[in-house]
Amino acid sequence: MAKLIDGKAISAAVRAEIKENTQKLIADTGVTPGLAVIIVGTDPASQVYVRNKRLACTEVGFYSEAYELPEETTQEELEALVDRLNADEKIHGILVQLPLPKHLDEHSILLRISPDKDVDAFHPYNVGRIMIGDYAFLPCTPAGVMELIRRSGIDCTGKECVVVGRSNIVGKPMAMLLLQANGTVTICHSRTRDLAEVTRRADILVVAIGKADFITGDMVKEGAVVIDVGMNRRADGKLTGDVDFASVEPVASYITPVPGGVGPMTITMLMQNTLTAAKNTLK
Ligand code: GUN
Repeated sequence: MAKLIDGKAISAAVRAEIKENTQKLIADTGVTPGLAVIIVGTDPASQVYVRNKRLACTEVGFYSEAYELPEETTQEELEALVDRLNADEKIHGILVQLPLPKHLDEHSILLRISPDKDVDAFHPYNVGRIMIGDYAFLPCTPAGVMELIRRSGIDCTGKECVVVGRSNIVGKPMAMLLLQANGTVTICHSRTRDLAEVTRRADILVVAIGKADFITGDMVKEGAVVIDVGMNRRADGKLTGDVDFASVEPVASYITPVPGGVGPMTITMLMQNTLTAAKNTLK
């Protein structure tokens, strides 16, 4: 029987710390952290994320602005908004919700966000800083995973850490953070030969491949820590991860559920990054 890593409880504890530090920052300096969230179009999942981000801002005592732009917004209009927010002293963090509609050039929009306000840590400058271990911000999901691991009392030092998935948002930065935590890190992906042989080596297995119930019990070593970053919608409408919970849970020592594992941490780490960005303006 694995211990459940309770993402909701850990997220609530981290948010309480952020709220306290925000009150202290406001009392000491008069600076209120401010986050601007931009969404283009009407993707329902994105709308839910954006609403939750605003609610989280209110909860921890931040100032926030939301820009809900029509689908037909042009590159020039979006860039003009980013430029304006880059120059706005009330705003310390700018988040452009992805994916953007196809006619917009996502890469050049992300490049346009000031690296000092890039609370997603998607700008190549911030990605580079993560590579050399000298970062201001960490991408929210991998940062949330590390917080779950740390706060469960798990030490990565010397452990075999296997990351399944190689996206820029999760897999690649996740591997860097596990490496910085002194893990021995392997990244595998859909083209890996004998993936199960690699995942079975893992003491700590982080799965972010975007395929429902992909990792089964026979792919996991007895006693492994299993972190499920997946968020898939089943045909019956139920949310499920990339890990087949029923067969993996009896094998693992720790496991994150979906929902209620990694998910709640992501927005919390966004709040952490926004607070950091606000503090950094005082340096
Ligand atoms: N869409 C899905 N996840 C994310 C995220 O972490 N940041 C942004 N900006 N868009 C997303």
